[in-house]
Formats: sequence, C-alpha cells, structure tokens
Amino acid sequence: MFTAEYLADYINKAIDQIKYPEQPAGLFDPIKYAMGSGGKRLRPVLTLGACAALGADISAVRNQALGVEMYHNFTLLHDDVMDRADMRRGRPTVHRKWNESTAILSGDAMLTMAGQLMSRCDATITWRVMELFNTTAMEVYEGQQYDMDFENRMDVTVDEYMEMIRLKTSVLLGCACKLGAIVAGANEYECRALYDYGIKLGLAFQLEDDLLDTFGDPDVFGKNIGGDIVNDKKTWLLISALNSDKHDEICRFIGSDTDAPTKIAKVKAIYEELGLRQQCTGLIETYIDNAIESLRSIEMVPGAIDFFVKIAQDSLHRTH
Ligand code: IPE
Ligand code: IPE
Ligand code: MG
Ligand code: MG
Ligand code: MG
Repeated sequence: MFTAEYLADYINKAIDQIKYPEQPAGLFDPIKYAMGSGGKRLRPVLTLGACAALGADISAVRNQALGVEMYHNFTLLHDDVMDRADMRRGRPTVHRKWNESTAILSGDAMLTMAGQLMSRCDATITWRVMELFNTTAMEVYEGQQYDMDFENRMDVTVDEYMEMIRLKTSVLLGCACKLGAIVAGANEYECRALYDYGIKLGLAFQLEDDLLDTFGDPDVFGKNIGGDIVNDKKTWLLISALNSDKHDEICRFIGSDTDAPTKIAKVKAIYEELGLRQQCTGLIETYIDNAIESLRSIEMVPGAIDFFVKIAQDSLHRTH
C-alpha cells in the first residue's frame, strides 16, 4: 500500500501537468494560482488511496482524483468571498488578489473543469461517477447555505451544526473515497463502507478546522485566525458556549460592532474558561474512531487499514 505522502506527490505532479488555455489570462491565471498554491490534497489522496486499497491501479482513477481536487478548490474560491476571507494557504485569496468577479468566474470554470475530469472514465461507470459527483456538489451548496443562514441565528443546535458540516464538508470526503471504490470495481457494500469512513472523517476534519480557526498558530495556519468568531459562525465551540452559563456574557459579542481583535480575544477566553477546546478534541477523537470502525468489515490490501488510520489521526494533529 502507498503512503499518503506518495499519493500527495502523485497528485501534485498530475496537477502540474494540467494544461490551461493561454487566454483569457484573467480567467485562467487565478485557477493556476489556486491549484498551484499547495494544500494538503486530502481528497485526491483519499480517492487514490481507496482505489489502491481495493487492489486497483491508481492511474485508473487519476482523472477523478484531479476532478475532486479541482472541485474542492472551486468551493474555496467562492467560500472565501462568502466568508470575507483574505488569506488562504499563506497567500491572499483570489478575490483579494484579483476581485470578486474573478473569484466567481474562475470558480465557475473550475466547477466545469471538475465535471469534465470526473466524466473521463470507463463508459460502464460514467453514470455512477457523475451521479455521485452531482449529488455531492448539490449537498455542498446546501451546507454552505446553512452555514451562512446560521450566521444570523442564535438558536442553532449541535444537531443542526453537525448536519451542516456533513453537507458542506463530509460529503466531499465521502465522495472522494467512493470514487476510488467505484473505479476499483467495488461492490455496494465496499462503496458504502468507504463512503461512511469519509463522512465521519469529514465531521472530525471540520470540527478540527473550526478549532484551528480559533486556536491555531497564525504563522502556520495559512488563514486568518478568528475569522469564524468575527463572522459569528455557529461552530460547535460557539453553540456550546451559548448553551453554557456564559450565555449572556458571550451574547454581548455576537452581532456586535466590537473591533475584531477584541472580539476574538474575549470570545476565545470564554471558550478556554469553559474548557471547550478539550471537549471538542474529545468529540473529534470519537468521530475518528467511528471512521476507522466503518472500514473494519471490508477486505482491503495489506497495509490499507493503517493508511486510513494514519490519515484520520493526522487530521487531528494537523496545524493547517
Ligand atoms: C478547507 O479544506 C475547507 C474545509 C473543508 C475545512 P482543507 O483544509 O482540506 O484545505 P487545503 O486544500 O488543505 O488548503
Ligand atoms: C469549508 O468551510 C466548507 C467549504 C469550503 C465547502 P470553512 O469556511 O470553514 O473553510 P475554510 O476555513 O474557509 O477553509
Ligand atoms: Mg465557509
Ligand atoms: Mg471559509
Ligand atoms: Mg474554517
């Protein structure tokens, strides 16, 4: 079985080989900028890894791995406009380096290119691949809408939050895993197990992303720390603080015009006092265990389970 590092290297080389038209540069330069700016490549690594874990050659799923990473990067261009985010992967976001119209249109082109890459597979499985991709894409938009709706609500429950992150983040990780399984010729049971792994990993991954957004190291996170607090994002942290005896205290800062550094410092201090950072880490560990459990019932090549265990555990200990 390959390592995640080997597969990330494989996909980075494949990304470098993507040919874009020269003109109009205003459309394609931002795409090259976004696709070439690093990133952990988690989703294509899952796609390639799932395919390899079921004994197939990773080259068979190369286009779908590229497609899933292209789609992910498209969502980031639009997400950064929606979240008013200035930094990503240690560089200005596309809408800050260019402008919002550029982020919209280059994002649109990336979505289309993702669809093209996805559909390049054996004709016998094209329908299943496209059905999965399109269903997943629609769910991501639903999740993103809930994420924005929740900014203006004070009564969001933990269950609503978990469903929102399942939609905006988990389904793409589930899709990434299942694509590898479909191309490897897996049966429904195997597809389901890998999809479930991706879903639970995605829940852990987004909870950790929310933790890093507040408690991460600004020198390595690559995004501005505290963006979720500034935007009144209903993260697990904020919902838990609202459900605590510090409800009134934290409410003073939500939707307020307190300057950003003060708001971030105050809200962060409340989270710390409530011990929410540790509690959230505990929850993440539970989802990681559940993710790994999903794979116990299927047969994979030697070393495959360790590959998926390591990816899950690394996502808890990541810094960006
Ligand atoms: C960012 O995803 C969006 C989330 C779902 C949290 P990643 O953390 O995988 O971003 P990159 O691609 O590694 O930069
Ligand atoms: C990511 O949510 C979900 C999608 C991009 C679909 P976030 O808004 O938390 O992601 P980051 O933190 O900007 O990467
Ligand atoms: Mg967002
Ligand atoms: Mg965002
Ligand atoms: Mg985030």
